[in-house]
Amino acid sequence: MARVFIVNGPNLNLLGTRETQFYGNDTLAEIEAELQRMFDQEHALRFFQSNVEGQIINALHEVRNWAEGIVINPGAYTHYSYAIHDAIKAIRIPTVEVHLSNIHARDEFRHKSVIVPACLGQISGFGSHGYALAVTALLGHLSTSKSSDAT
Ligand code: DQA
Repeated sequence: MARVFIVNGPNLNLLGTRETQFYGNDTLAEIEAELQRMFDQEHALRFFQSNVEGQIINALHEVRNWAEGIVINPGAYTHYSYAIHDAIKAIRIPTVEVHLSNIHARDEFRHKSVIVPACLGQISGFGSHGYALAVTALLGHLSTSKSSDAT
């Protein structure tokens, strides 16, 4: 059993209608429901979305005594929020960054993530399926680090 916090940043509340050529047709509620369906039997998931940087940081602080892992799509904050980078470093919870679109194949300003250096890694370009890939990657990491703790 792992406790996983899934965070979405600005404009991701508009998934389903927002630039569907990049982000697909699934709404955030549908993505969250699918993650529940896939992982809820064995794991505890909590979801959070905000368009406000400080609220994302507060949510990361508040969850630090509960979450064992975090999946975050920071939206455009990916490219310039040193504050979210620092928050992930500060709470010291393994984190996977996810993007629906392949940020490396889009505008130049999207190629750089200032947040991923604080994360285990990044999944980018697999649409809404990326969230399940990110949770799976995180669970793999957590089970490896738990078993190496035990030895
Ligand atoms: C995004 C990519 C970002 O560049 C963009 O600002 C978003 C969504 C993605 O999921 O592909 O809001 O994080």
